[in-house]
Amino acid sequence: MGRSLKYEIPGEDPRVPLSDVAEKGWTLVFASTMKSACGSRSGAPPDGLEQTPRRVLEIGFGRGEFLLAMAAREPRVQFIGIEVSWKRTLKMARKVARAKLENVRLVDDRAEHAIQVLFEPESLDAIWINFTDPWPKGRHAHRRLIRTGFVGDAAVALKASGTLFVATDDVPYALQIDEVLSRSPRLENLNAPFPFVSEVADRMRTGYEEQWRAEGRPLHFFTYRPSPNAHRGRTRPDRPCSGRAR
Ligand SMILES: C[S@@+](CC[C@H](N)C(=O)[O-])C[C@H]1O[C@@H](n2cnc3c(N)ncnc32)[C@H](O)[C@@H]1O
Repeated sequence: MGRSLKYEIPGEDPRVPLSDVAEKGWTLVFASTMKSACGSRSGAPPDGLEQTPRRVLEIGFGRGEFLLAMAAREPRVQFIGIEVSWKRTLKMARKVARAKLENVRLVDDRAEHAIQVLFEPESLDAIWINFTDPWPKGRHAHRRLIRTGFVGDAAVALKASGTLFVATDDVPYALQIDEVLSRSPRLENLNAPFPFVSEVADRMRTGYEEQWRAEGRPLHFFTYRPSPNAHRGRTRPDRPCSGRAR
């Protein structure tokens, strides 16, 4: 992982090359920092941590407010942030290091690729996708993240008890998200019979959400869990780990 003087990151660099994760797996990547965070000199994992690792993913963390708040609130949970923007990943790495959060790892990659190569089936407790880019122009619609293939991969990566959270302020995208999620045989709608809700009590707000609320935009919050047959016949695709690693 290269560093430049301009972007010097204090403390341990929380960015993880895809190759490291693919080789070691998240548990080992996290374990090294978790141990130093907990001051263990014996090499033994902190009590209960590796026996019951909870692992939460946020996709497209943007300026990172939501991920930082979640990680600070639950220091014993492992948080992974995936963001396609390298600049945002780098800025976030500095925030994570300055906040001395030892339970966060950042990957700069497209989520569609990362979800396939980084996670074993049934390995995530939650996936958060907050205000994913709506790509409103028709000719760009194919760039939207919430599509059938990606959603199927996300369902496989979730534990049976896991949850997929998706939020958008964009009405046409909300209709598409509803169509994709509700048609997925691998997912079940926790808001049924409603496709989404427009408010969720006690939900932390993201940076973009604050803007959209100030502008009075309608919000759509989707909550799904894997269906009982979500993992039937599925394994992680055996693809080369070719994403951008920094
Ligand atoms: C509208 S912003 C929302 C940021 C943040 N979640 C929030 O609510 O404040 C969408 C973010 O998703 C990232 N993003 C877009 N497509 C992505 C993809 N395919 N994989 C990972 N991140 C993506 C963008 O770079 C951007 O930071």
